[in-house]
Amino acid sequence: MESKELILEVKKLNTTFVSDKKETRIVKDVSFAVKRGTTLAVVGESGCSKSVTMNSIMRFLGRNAKVEAESIRFTAKRADGTAEPHQLEGIKNPNGAEMRALRGPQMSMVFQDPMSSLNPVYKVGDQVAEGLIQHTGISKKQAREQVLELFPRLGIPDPESRIDCYPHQFSGGMKQRVVIAIAMICNPELIICDEPTTALDVTIQAQIMELLKKLQVENGKSIILITHNMGLVAEMADEVCVMYMGRVVEFGSLEDIFDHPSHPYTKALLRSVPVLGLADGQKLETIPGITPNPADLKPGCEFADRCAECTERCRGANIPAYEIAPGHRVRCVQFDHFPEVD
Ligand SMILES: Nc1ncnc2c1ncn2[C@@H]1O[C@H](COP(=O)(O)OP(=O)(O)OP(=O)(O)O)[C@@H](O)[C@H]1O
Ligand SMILES: [Mg+2]
Repeated sequence: MESKELILEVKKLNTTFVSDKKETRIVKDVSFAVKRGTTLAVVGESGCSKSVTMNSIMRFLGRNAKVEAESIRFTAKRADGTAEPHQLEGIKNPNGAEMRALRGPQMSMVFQDPMSSLNPVYKVGDQVAEGLIQHTGISKKQAREQVLELFPRLGIPDPESRIDCYPHQFSGGMKQRVVIAIAMICNPELIICDEPTTALDVTIQAQIMELLKKLQVENGKSIILITHNMGLVAEMADEVCVMYMGRVVEFGSLEDIFDHPSHPYTKALLRSVPVLGLADGQKLETIPGITPNPADLKPGCEFADRCAECTERCRGANIPAYEIAPGHRVRCVQFDHFPEVD
């Protein structure tokens, strides 16, 4: 694992939303990397900035978002298999030629809300085929063939008639499959799935995850999976990124996070979700307190007020991440005898 090439390396990503002259820092010094051919799971409570982080990288945010980073390095793969590095933080126009060439065949995203990512006035088949035609220049007919081939693999039955339907003729789960088809049709090197399967029933969810895993094993594709489902993390992830209030509080391999969770938040998160093997009658804990409002934050660790292990030192200045084992990083003062990695 250690020698694998990085497909994505993000260093100190910061995203701030500006409204009525007020600035709210939503993503804070976020650093993480994805090794080619592996799956990174991103977990954390609702509102911890998982979606905004990914939308910042894909440059999908509106003009009220200020995205800054020390470096966002994405390594695309040319048709001949050679690597082609891009520094995304340096790209001025989020919709310019460089970003457009990457989105689709190199990196694509399955959005959390399928309703808002489909256009109600176009047939679903045309919406799926569009990216393919744009990027490969193949004919409409050839693209249609590929869509017909992809639909059943994503659990969309009767593709011949479904392909000419409009989004409103589809159920929520079916629409979500169309959104997944749009993200997958160009066979991207990196696919970012933002809670892609929550509206799907368990069988289809398993099917889609299996398909993603198959693509990964056969073609060396990379996946970022945002999910609240720890069972799915255990099944899919090679590495796990735990976020809290816009920060990465812990990052490590699946074993690091599940067997040696070290940040008090990660430990609380793991105690609060159903995991396989929970004995009958064993109760799930909830994490006490609520996530604070991102607009009114005090200095120090964002989790301090909810943390059972909190001390005075937690409320001081910015807390760096410490590397407690190779590749295992924790942002907590308890580990300040380990080397700082930020
Ligand atoms: N366009 C926006 N303008 C201002 N604030 C925003 C915008 N989009 C998101 N936010 C805020 O950013 C924070 C992080 O939101 P985000 O959607 O990334 O959370 P999340 O971790 O994806 O949560 P969930 O698990 O519910 O999807 C929230 O406080 C949210 O209100
Ligand atoms: Mg989200």
